[in-house]
Amino acid sequence: MGFTGNIAMFSSILLIICLSFFSFQTTTKACHETDKAALLDFKKNIIYDGPYKRLENWKKDTDCCNNWEGVACDHSNGRVVYIDLSGKQLSGVIPSSVGKLVSLERLDFAGNNFSGCLPSTIGSLKNLTYMNLSANKISCSIPQSIGDLSKLRYMNLWKNRFSGSIPSSFSKLSSLRYCQISDNKLSGSIPSSIGYMPELQVLQAFNNMLTGNIPMSLGNLTNLGALDLRNNRLTGKIPSTLCNPIDLSTLDLSSNGFAGEFPAVIGNMSRLQVLNLSNNDFHSVIPSAVLNLPRLRFINVSHNRLFGKIPYHIFPFDPSCFGGNPGLCDSPLLPCNTTTA
Ligand SMILES: *[C@@H]1O[C@H](CO)[C@@H](O)[C@H](O)[C@H]1NC(C)=O
Ligand SMILES: *[C@@H]1O[C@H](CO)[C@@H](O)[C@H](O)[C@H]1NC(C)=O
Ligand SMILES: *[C@@H]1O[C@H](CO)[C@@H](O)[C@H](O)[C@H]1NC(C)=O
Ligand SMILES: *[C@@H]1O[C@H](CO)[C@@H](O)[C@H](O)[C@H]1NC(C)=O
Ligand SMILES: *[C@@H]1O[C@H](CO)[C@@H](O)[C@H](O)[C@H]1NC(C)=O
Ligand SMILES: *[C@@H]1O[C@H](CO)[C@@H](O)[C@H](O)[C@H]1NC(C)=O
Ligand SMILES: *[C@@H]1O[C@H](CO)[C@@H](O)[C@H](O)[C@H]1NC(C)=O
Ligand SMILES: *[C@@H]1O[C@H](CO)[C@@H](O)[C@H](O)[C@H]1NC(C)=O
Repeated sequence: MGFTGNIAMFSSILLIICLSFFSFQTTTKACHETDKAALLDFKKNIIYDGPYKRLENWKKDTDCCNNWEGVACDHSNGRVVYIDLSGKQLSGVIPSSVGKLVSLERLDFAGNNFSGCLPSTIGSLKNLTYMNLSANKISCSIPQSIGDLSKLRYMNLWKNRFSGSIPSSFSKLSSLRYCQISDNKLSGSIPSSIGYMPELQVLQAFNNMLTGNIPMSLGNLTNLGALDLRNNRLTGKIPSTLCNPIDLSTLDLSSNGFAGEFPAVIGNMSRLQVLNLSNNDFHSVIPSAVLNLPRLRFINVSHNRLFGKIPYHIFPFDPSCFGGNPGLCDSPLLPCNTTTA
């Protein structure tokens, strides 16, 4: 009796599961017409879609939510929420119609051969949280409208041909945690509005042509863990506010035109693990607090005009980390001249 009763119960549970699956199927919406039109316009702008013809199944008479390469939808309304076409060897420009995909949350075009400008309609993608456009040939300025992406948490524009300056509208990217704009041709100064991105954890802008000072406002970025501005044309002093981000563990300001005294503020960065100040024009002694920061594992202050005795430190550093400063002496370099020390 208990046995047959169990079977009956299982059968009805099974039936309910089947029914709910069926009703779920029937409420699944096909691709929204606006989104399909935008995707087809995008395809029209692709002049070459690689040896594997990845966009071949993007066809007018099929449902874009069903089996279109790299496309995913919210099945409750048929809106496209996800496009991942990374590494597909696509060539062409990104058309302004991309801005019609208003429900998009993730956009990944990384590692293709996209060229032309990034259309300013990108700012219409208000729900975008992830954007990876790295390793393409996208040129022109970064559009001001990028600041409208208030939900954006991850932005990667690494290795393109963006020129012009960093838009001041970056300050409106209030959810941004990761900002990678390195290996472009960006010029002009770092806008002080950058200090208004409260969530920022990583800022990488190396290998550009940025000029001017590091703005004081960078000290407002209290969640900042890594700052990499190496190989630009930055000058001036390191602002004393830069010790406010208490999580800062990586600081790379190498190959710029920073001058003046070795920034004493670095001695207060208690979480610092990696410090690279090489190839600048710092001219002073090295403050002993810096070499004795508890977590410091890598330092490179080579090729400046530092002088005097390298302060006593416990962690062993490579001599090449201090080289190219003719006035520096003591371990790990040669002993100081005893008659002058
Ligand atoms: C990249 O696109 C350009 C046209 O924009 C084309 O001339 C070039 O051959 C493409 N390169 C590759 C590797 O597909
Ligand atoms: C954006 O996301 C919110 C929250 O998930 C949602 O309610 C809204 O409908 C989305 N907007 C669009 C245009 O899809
Ligand atoms: C973004 O694309 C690059 C390739 O250009 C890749 O190395 C990186 O991991 C991607 N980001 C994420 C979070 O997957
Ligand atoms: C950011 O820093 C600047 C200069 O250090 C300061 O005047 C400003 O009040 C700060 N803003 C915020 C939002 O903390
Ligand atoms: C430090 O900076 C110099 C000059 O930019 C570079 O050659 C060296 O590789 C850097 N070291 C590390 C570990 O980043
Ligand atoms: C380092 O921190 C101490 C204590 O908070 C402070 O008195 C000192 O002025 C700071 N030094 C620098 C260079 O910011
Ligand atoms: C320090 O930087 C110099 C370039 O300025 C480089 O030649 C040297 O190898 C670096 N040292 C280490 C340990 O990375
Ligand atoms: C050490 O100092 C003496 C006296 O000032 C000077 O004659 C000598 O050349 C110095 N040696 C080196 C290696 O700098």
